[in-house]
Amino acid sequence: MMRRNKTDWKPCPDRIRTIQGEVHVWRCPLGLSAKRAGGWLRVLSSDELIRAGRFVYKKDRVQFIVARAFLRVLLGRYLHRLPGAIRFTYGENGKPGLPAHTIHGPFGFNIAHAGDWIVCAVAPSSQIGVDIECPRRGLDVLSLGDSFLSDGEQEALRSLPVGERITSFLACWTRKEAYLKSMGKGLQVPLDSFQVSVRPSERPRMVAIDGNQDRAEHWFMEEFAPTQGYAGAVVAPGRNWKVVYRDFALESRASHEKMSVKA
Ligand SMILES: CC(C)(COP(=O)(O)OP(=O)(O)OC[C@H]1O[C@@H](n2cnc3c(N)ncnc32)[C@H](O)[C@@H]1OP(=O)(O)O)[C@@H](O)C(=O)NCCC(=O)NCCS
Repeated sequence: MMRRNKTDWKPCPDRIRTIQGEVHVWRCPLGLSAKRAGGWLRVLSSDELIRAGRFVYKKDRVQFIVARAFLRVLLGRYLHRLPGAIRFTYGENGKPGLPAHTIHGPFGFNIAHAGDWIVCAVAPSSQIGVDIECPRRGLDVLSLGDSFLSDGEQEALRSLPVGERITSFLACWTRKEAYLKSMGKGLQVPLDSFQVSVRPSERPRMVAIDGNQDRAEHWFMEEFAPTQGYAGAVVAPGRNWKVVYRDFALESRASHEKMSVKA
């Protein structure tokens, strides 16, 4: 079996900026007390406050607030803006982006949350996609595969020893979802219209799009784990990306606001 290397999460540098050819994947723990999360409400926009208010469970509300605060603080560091000054646009299928006049040159980001983690991928490309899944036990992956995976993926999954199927399914799922998220089209793209690698012995890659292997060559895919046992994938158009994995901690609002506006 091919060894899945442990992801090397590096500390957050003082200066954060996009670099041509680099994708940055940031991870941030979602666990913050309701009191500390409440301190971040002031940076949220009115539509985000409405969304936060709709969550039935406090834990979900807190996680949403922390996720948005993290996103705003992180993007603020790239764009030298205060977290509360970030404005989002939304694509036809809900992919968040930034208004063209607020960025200089190509800039894209995408977030995913699962369990107690949120990750954000940032790159000099708007077509960036990321997905993570937390470990799951007892998933009936063969029947899920029948519903969601392409024929080639189902076949690969069935060929694996039973003990490898859940992990391989989750790896496959994150690869597929990260690709959908990179394009921002959600389920408008049929899940069986493209095929990704599934077997642990294969490197993560797009295998075919609409049965065409040449088209698949134009997509970059890498796997990672926000923490042990999780699955994660980042996808971007093109081939030669270097992915740098970094930690981010949401500290006090005052300390972040000072960092955001530093030139
Ligand atoms: C958009 C979508 C991808 C979100 O997936 P999810 O697993 O529920 O959630 P994730 O944590 O991965 O990502 C959510 C984030 O993606 C971003 N997002 C929303 N719509 C998006 C879109 N169309 N494209 C890319 N990103 C999107 C948002 O930032 C969202 O976070 P927010 O709601 O806090 O702002 C989902 O709605 C979708 O269409 N999924 C495909 C479903 C599926 O069956 N996949 C199977 C793959 S085998």
